[in-house]
This record gives sequence, structure tokens and C-alpha cells, in this order.
Amino acid sequence: MKKTLALIMAVCLCVFMMAACSSSDTPASESPSEASTDNAAEATEAPADDAAAEASTEASSDDAAADSNSDNSEKTIGISMPTQSLERWNRDGAYLDEQFQAAGYKTILSYSDNKNEQQVADIENMLAQGVDLLVVAAIDGNALNTVMNDAGDAGIPIIAYDRLIMNDNVDYYVSFDNYTVGTLQGQYIIDTLDLDNANGTTYNMEITGGDPADNNAPFFYQGAIDTLQPYLDNGTLKVVSGQVDFDVVGTPQWSTDEALDRAQNVLASYYADGTQLDVWLCSNDSTALGVTQAVTSDYAGDNSVLITGQDGDVANLRNIKDGSQSMTVYKAVANEAVVTLDLAKAILDGKNVGDALIKDSNWDFECIYDTESYETSAGHACPSFLLTPDVVTTDNMEEKLVTPGYYTVDADGYLEATNG
Ligand code: BGC
Repeated sequence: MKKTLALIMAVCLCVFMMAACSSSDTPASESPSEASTDNAAEATEAPADDAAAEASTEASSDDAAADSNSDNSEKTIGISMPTQSLERWNRDGAYLDEQFQAAGYKTILSYSDNKNEQQVADIENMLAQGVDLLVVAAIDGNALNTVMNDAGDAGIPIIAYDRLIMNDNVDYYVSFDNYTVGTLQGQYIIDTLDLDNANGTTYNMEITGGDPADNNAPFFYQGAIDTLQPYLDNGTLKVVSGQVDFDVVGTPQWSTDEALDRAQNVLASYYADGTQLDVWLCSNDSTALGVTQAVTSDYAGDNSVLITGQDGDVANLRNIKDGSQSMTVYKAVANEAVVTLDLAKAILDGKNVGDALIKDSNWDFECIYDTESYETSAGHACPSFLLTPDVVTTDNMEEKLVTPGYYTVDADGYLEATNG
């Protein structure tokens, strides 16, 4: 399995580099099918190309993938990603596209520039191209009703990828345990500041949450707040700005600039008088990047501020190594793509999907089958496959990220993502 993953990564790097040449987000005028035909053509030509070519051949002839190549060749998977402007989705798109292709499927991959209308148009386009299954990471989980209904009417299975879509036509949800992401951030704060032995010390904290349109964002927030609540209640932690509610601390589109602006305002309003800031709970890395920038430039104190994150974006891993961000919650999206592929195969092959998928699969990572935690509408649970997130700090970066092959180390000791 490790060998397979390494080979897949080598191919991903090659395919992603080729895809990156052509684009930022797929322009509205470019139909997803054109994008995919180009990519597919390039991928087929790639074998002329040295090591990556060999990796490609080996990867697709490896175990499970090989079994199903011939059966899958007539099937097309539509992969709709939200944007290329947030780092992780480039990795997700590259892994999904490569893994489905290595298993013999055709793919149509689109990025929708964080614009709902474009994502709707991209998915409608995929339906018009006759896709057999959709994998969708929604920009806004409430904005895809019409196109999800169209897919449902056409009998096209839908996997909500990473972010749940609020529509009952969604068949399955594949993600990480989002609530646990928040609890890991909260627990890291408790452990690092040793809050259980605070002996009357009060630590000052601020909070930056995620995009309210993203169904994941309240889960991250709640996991962290529930974990920290006892310390907020007994005064060991204090949110000096008073800005605690999710509605107040959210960050539209997870934008680094929005997070930076709000952090600068908070610092100017509540900390300019010399009040010490100890912790900034940030739901993810794109927001942590803005907060770190604000703290670096606009915070007058000389203590180091504990800042949390999520994803393992390259700029944040650099900050963690340099000490301006404390941790990130890493989610191995390569494995999220593996679960999505195996689930899609099972659905398309008419197999029983549920716990059986986990039992039958040879995954070397944790994943649970959960039929209760997520609902696409009130009372309508969405069966979910949830992987396990992990804390990464400067101390375990090498072990957690480099050894498994997700990142390499550059000449200056900073990490670079293997597939973009
Ligand atoms: C993902 C996070 C990511 C955020 C912004 C969320 O839906 O689960 O991993 O940081 O979107 O891209």
C-alpha cells in the first residue's frame, strides 16, 4: 500500500505540474470537459516521459486498480473542487484525478473559483457530458440544490467530498472527523499552556472561525469551544474582545485577507494598550496565515502567541518551523481520495456499501463508518466515511509528513508538498 501511495504521488506530481501550467481556476468559459480532455490527453502522452511514465504504468497495473481497469474504462467521474486559491484543494483535485485515472476511469475535473454560479455550471456541464458519478466539494453546501436534484433525477450517484451538501440526493459523505479537528486544536492549547495547572493565571485568547457557508466550519469551531469551555467558564481563558460566537468570528470564504483585517481590528481595539495576547484559536491554515501576519506586524507584546491551524499548507508549515504558528491539524487528503475511489467503485459495481467497505478494503489508515453525525436535511442522515485527523508540530513534522511521502524537505529545511 505504501509503495502504491508513493507511486501514485509521483504521478500526481507530474499530472499536477502539467495542470498547473494551464491555469488558475478553470475559467467560466472553459467547459470542464475541455479541461479534462486536455488533462487526459496529456496523461496518456506522459508515458514518453521517463520515471513518471514508469510510475504511471506501475501504479495502474498495481493490485486493485488493475483488477478493475478494463471494467471502468467506459465510466466517467465528475470531480468538482471549490477553488485553487486555497492550497489544499489543489492537492485534493490532483490526488482524486490521478487515483481515478489510475483505476481506469475517465475524469472531468473542475475548479470553480469559489463562485457558486460557476460550480453549478461546472456540475451541469458534467451531467451534460454524461458522467456516471459525481464527487463534489461544495463552495456553499446550501447553494447546489437545483443541480443536485438534476443529478438525482438522472440517477447519478453523488459523493459529497470533505464538505457536506444539504441535499438529500447526496448518497455518501467522505471527510475527516471535523469535530475532532476542533477538539485537537483545543486540547493542544490546554496541554501547551498547561491550563490544568494555571493556578489562577488568566490566558487571553481570540478566535477566528471558518466560512459560515461551509458545513464543516461550525464543527471545527464547536469541537474546539466544547474542549475549551471549562477553562473559559473558570476564567483560566478569557476572550478579551468578547467576540466568541461563531457568527461573529467566522471568515467568509476562509479568506486570509479577511482574517488579517479582522485580526488587525481586534488587536487595535483590545490590545494596543499593552494587554497580553496568549492564544489565537484559528480553525485552519488560510485564516492562521492572516492572523499570524497581523500578530507579527500589529501586536506590540514580545511574548510568543500560540496560534492553531489545520491542513498543513506549505506557508504555514514554514511558519511552524520558524515558530510563528504553533501547530496544524493535518488531514491526509491522499487517503481521503483513496476512500472516495474505493467508495465510488463499490457504488458503480453495485456492491453493498457500509461497514463492509472498510472491512473489505486494505486501508493502512483509520476510517470509521458513521450513520448518525451528518444530516443532509433534518432527520435525513447521510452515511459517512470519516478519517482521523492528526496534530503536526515542529517536533513531529518529519515523522508525520515527510516519512509517509506527503512532503519533501527543500534545501533550506522547509517542506514542499509532493503533489503541489
Ligand atoms: C476543509 C478544511 C479547509 C477549509 C478551507 C474546509 O472545508 O475541511 O480542510 O481548511 O475548507 O479550504
